[in-house]
Amino acid sequence: MNYTVVLPAAGSGKRMKADKNKLLLELFGKPIFLYTLEVFQQDSNCDAIWLAVKEQERELIENYVKRYNLTKVQGYATGGTERQDSVRACLEAIPPCGVVLVHDAARPFIDKEVIANLVETAHTSGAAIAAVPVKDTIKKAENGIISETVDRNQLWMIQTPQAFRYSLMLEAAQKAHNDGFMGTDEAMLVERLNYPVAIVESTYENIKMTTPDDLIYGRAILESRLQ
Ligand code: CTP
Ligand code: MG
Repeated sequence: MNYTVVLPAAGSGKRMKADKNKLLLELFGKPIFLYTLEVFQQDSNCDAIWLAVKEQERELIENYVKRYNLTKVQGYATGGTERQDSVRACLEAIPPCGVVLVHDAARPFIDKEVIANLVETAHTSGAAIAAVPVKDTIKKAENGIISETVDRNQLWMIQTPQAFRYSLMLEAAQKAHNDGFMGTDEAMLVERLNYPVAIVESTYENIKMTTPDDLIYGRAILESRLQ
């Protein structure tokens, strides 16, 4: 089933502690965001790719898109202060579509089968997000003392992609903006509408390149895929 993907790429990567947007850092000679773009370029179900970028990085990114022949990139929106603002700018810029997928440009190792499962679930039930079961024991602490051990069997670590019926996602994003509500993922905005959001099991390889150690894991993942 077909979809349009929105890729927020307008961050600055403060936690990566590089001197530029972390998405421009290279893994084996290629900037991180291009790995992400190539997954969608190569997915025959992906109709269009839209990017939220910083105004001052737009030309640089557009040049990469041309050089790597990423023909599915159909447009750019100017990113905002927070990730949620960047996603909303993109949602408001794209032509209406059936299902929209929101995916961090900083997650280059997303699995194609997971994308397909998300899109199918969003087509039938409206909202589906990628997640993996929590591996560690999770506890709550107050002033350094454990107050509760949380039942791990009910806990998921949430990733992107997050897939939604386009009209539902746009409504949720605009309502959050009008209400001054800031969430940490798209699903939170949809949950506020009391709309059920389904979990689709993803892979542990779908890491977000966030801190310097993620570059080590990223290289290792790419190397393992060459074997
Ligand atoms: N993003 C965005 N607009 C923002 C902030 C983030 O489009 N105002 C994008 C990032 O480019 C990234 C994705 O959202 O692809 C996930 O955000 P995150 O990992 O937090 O990236 P940064 O905000 O760049 O990193 P940091 O929080 O460490 O500064
Ligand atoms: Mg951030």
